[in-house]
Amino acid sequence: MKAAHVTDRVWHALLALRDGAAPLAPRNWTPPEVAAWELYAPLARRTGRPMRLAQIGQSLDGRVATPSGDARDVSGPDGLAHLHRVRALVDGVVIGVRTALHDSARLTVRLVEGPNPARVIIDPAGRLPDDAPCLARDGARRVVVQAVDRPRPPGVEVLHLPARGGWMAPDAIARALSGAGLSHVLIEGGGTTIAGFLEGGLLARLHVAIAPLIIGAGPSGLTTSPVARLADAIRPETHVYGLGSDILFDCDLTRPAATAAVPSAAAQRV
Ligand SMILES: NC(=O)c1ccc[n+]([C@@H]2O[C@H](COP(=O)([O-])OP(=O)(O)OC[C@H]3O[C@@H](n4cnc5c(N)ncnc54)[C@H](OP(=O)(O)O)[C@@H]3O)[C@@H](O)[C@H]2O)c1
Repeated sequence: MKAAHVTDRVWHALLALRDGAAPLAPRNWTPPEVAAWELYAPLARRTGRPMRLAQIGQSLDGRVATPSGDARDVSGPDGLAHLHRVRALVDGVVIGVRTALHDSARLTVRLVEGPNPARVIIDPAGRLPDDAPCLARDGARRVVVQAVDRPRPPGVEVLHLPARGGWMAPDAIARALSGAGLSHVLIEGGGTTIAGFLEGGLLARLHVAIAPLIIGAGPSGLTTSPVARLADAIRPETHVYGLGSDILFDCDLTRPAATAAVPSAAAQRV
């Protein structure tokens, strides 16, 4: 595990990379600064190809909220700062409508310097009220992906997609977002939404930040189709970073781990 420390000079180099500057080879940086660069540069760099990352902040027992839906502060302060850094480095943040309803999510960048990303809510049946905080007019793009005909407040962009049994194909969502100029995105949750993109082979990276608390019950961060044999489990190449209050697993879903018995299905599709 490497300690990652995002100092001002690292962060400004990352914001410049996000805005198109040539990748800067870190010189005279401390090992924790170099580790921070290695962690965030793949998210900041624009290659012309889509980059979709999912991030989960969870407890030691794999929960992202209590059974009653209290999800505030599952992550520690450094895990939250990490989430805000990732938001600042992508073009858009995607959530499912249940997260939008439960968490009153604002999805803005408040804990670090950087731009607010576009906010994308997947709301097939049009359940999100017009006065939801994530639809607030604050200068950031607001996008709703829906299957029904439902008018939205002025300025909110609507991507209309077909649904089968209420489910919209995640690859169609990804294409529609790229067509809207949002190909560098963070899938922030919840677990249902992340699982759709993961099982569709649409994620390049998965970040799991673990904070030292035990909740006992409640929704888990990720629920995918179970495998019968561990040999069939998804085993991405993973680097582990100490952020301070939280430990981060940075999983590259395009590469199976060297120890994997067989390449994962998801890794083969990305
Ligand atoms: N700690 C963290 O990192 C974190 C982050 C985010 C959320 N959370 C927690 O996660 C919980 C919510 O997660 P969740 O898994 O229950 O729900 P969710 O992923 O937030 O939302 C799921 C809903 O979004 C819609 N949806 C998503 N993908 C779709 C697709 N491909 N096609 C059609 N509809 C799609 C569906 O809406 P309909 O229901 O209308 O069909 C689906 O039921 C909350 O407790 C929240 O606090 C934690």
